[in-house]
Amino acid sequence: MEQYIIKGGNPLSGEVSIGGAKNAALGILAAAIMTDETVTIENVPNVRDTRVLLQAIEGIGAKVKYVYNNSVQINGGGICDMNVDYDYIKKIRASYYLLGALLGKYRQSQVALPGGCNIGSRPIDQHIKGFKALGADVQISHGKITTKAEKLSGGHVYFDVVSVGATINLMLAACLADGDTILENAAKEPHIVDVANFLNAMGANIKGAGTDVIRIKGVQRLHGTTYSIIPDQIEAGTFMFAAAATNGDVVVKDVIPKHLESLSAKLIEVGCEVVEGDDWVRVIGKGSLKSTNVKTLPYPGFPTDMQPQMAVVLALANGSSMITESIFENRFKYVDELNRMGCKIKVEGNTAYIEGVDHITGVEMSAPDLRAGAALVIAALAAEGVSQIDDIEYIQRGYEDFEGKLAMLGAVIERVDSEREAQKAKLKIS
Ligand code: EPZ
Repeated sequence: MEQYIIKGGNPLSGEVSIGGAKNAALGILAAAIMTDETVTIENVPNVRDTRVLLQAIEGIGAKVKYVYNNSVQINGGGICDMNVDYDYIKKIRASYYLLGALLGKYRQSQVALPGGCNIGSRPIDQHIKGFKALGADVQISHGKITTKAEKLSGGHVYFDVVSVGATINLMLAACLADGDTILENAAKEPHIVDVANFLNAMGANIKGAGTDVIRIKGVQRLHGTTYSIIPDQIEAGTFMFAAAATNGDVVVKDVIPKHLESLSAKLIEVGCEVVEGDDWVRVIGKGSLKSTNVKTLPYPGFPTDMQPQMAVVLALANGSSMITESIFENRFKYVDELNRMGCKIKVEGNTAYIEGVDHITGVEMSAPDLRAGAALVIAALAAEGVSQIDDIEYIQRGYEDFEGKLAMLGAVIERVDSEREAQKAKLKIS
C-alpha cells in the first residue's frame, strides 16, 4: 500500500495551480452520456474517482477518449447496458449519477446500491423519492436499485434534506422528462451550478441552479458540446489551510474566489492575512493562530469537506475552539490520529472541542477517508519530525498530484509503496 513520508516544519510558500472540481466532474461525466453526440470535457481532475467513473461509463458501452491529461471525449451513442456493476459503485458512490442519467435518456437504469462510508450511513432515499415523483418505478433488490418509467413526466420534488447528490441526480433525470420539474430545498453548491450549466450547454433548459428552487423544462434530446469544469473549491481550501497551519505564504491560482468566501472568512478570523485577486487567493500566516468556532453547513456555509482541515488549524491555535459537524454523523474519525500527534481534541456527539497546543510531533498514522487524509497531511507538515501516512489511496481519490504540488511549495514529502522504500525515505529526509 502506498504511503506518504513527510518531514514537518517547513512553512509552505509559493504558488499552486488548482485543478477541476472533482464533485462537479462526477456529475458532468455522468451527464455526458445523455447525448449520442460527442462531448469534450476539459479541466477534468485526473484523480481516482473520475478514472473509476469513466471506467463505469465505458463498461456500459459509451466511448471514452482521453485527449490529454485533463481533457476527455465521451460519446454515449453506443450504450448497450443499463446495468452499472457493483465493483464500480463499491469504489465510488458517485457512480449512482448514472441512475439519473440513464433513466432520463433510456427510461431505465440499474445500479448497485452504494454502501455507507467512513463519514456516515449516506442513504439515498431522496434520490429515490425524486425518481418516483417523475413517474419512475423504483425497485431495490439483491443490492441493486432498478428504475423504469413507461412515461417520465415532470414532477414537483421537495427534498427533506439538502442533498448535493440527489439534486444532481434529479437534474439529470428531469432534463429529458416530458414536462416541467421543480426541485425545492435543492443544494446550491458551485458544483450544482456547474452541472446545470453543462446540461444547458448540451441543450437542456434548467433555471435557478445555485438557489434552493431549480426549474427544469424537459427537452426532447441533448446535443454534443465542449465544456470546462470549474476549479475545485475543496482542493483550493486544502492548500489555503495548509498555508495557515504551517505559517506559510501561498497563492492558490486558477480559482474562483467567490467559491472560497467561507474559507477566507475563517482564515481571517484565525488571524491570517487573505488577499483576493480575480482568479487567485493568497494566504499569509502571521506567526500565530487564534481560536474560533465553526459549524459545517450546505453552501454557502462552511463546507463539511473542509471540516478536518479546519480542525488541524484550530488544534494549532491559541485557546479553545469548537467544530460542529451538521452534515455527516461520523466525520471525526481523524481525531484519534491528531491526538497521537499531541493535539487536544475531544469529540462529543457531532461537536469537537479543541484546546490549541503550541506544537505537535510526527507519528505513523492512517488516512481514514479522503478529506481526513488530507488533514493528516497538513498536520504532518506542521509537526516536528517525520510522519508516515498509510492508506493514501483515499487521498488520491480527490487530489491530483498532491505530493508534487506540496513539494513545489517547499514541503518535504515523498510517496513510497513499500516498507523498505519508507525506511529509505525516512533516512533521507531525517
Ligand atoms: C457530496 O456527497 C460530495 N460528494 C461530498 O464530498 C460532500 O461531503 C457532500 O456532497 C456534502 O457537500 C460528491 O459530490 C461526489 P449529500 P453526497 O447528499 O451527495 C443526507 C468529498 O470529500 N442524505 O449532500 O453523498 C446525507 O446522509 C465528498 O469529496 C439523505 O439523508 O452528500 C448527509 O447527511 C465526501 N438522503 C446529507 O444528506 C439522501 O438521499 C448531505 O448529503 C441523500 C443524502
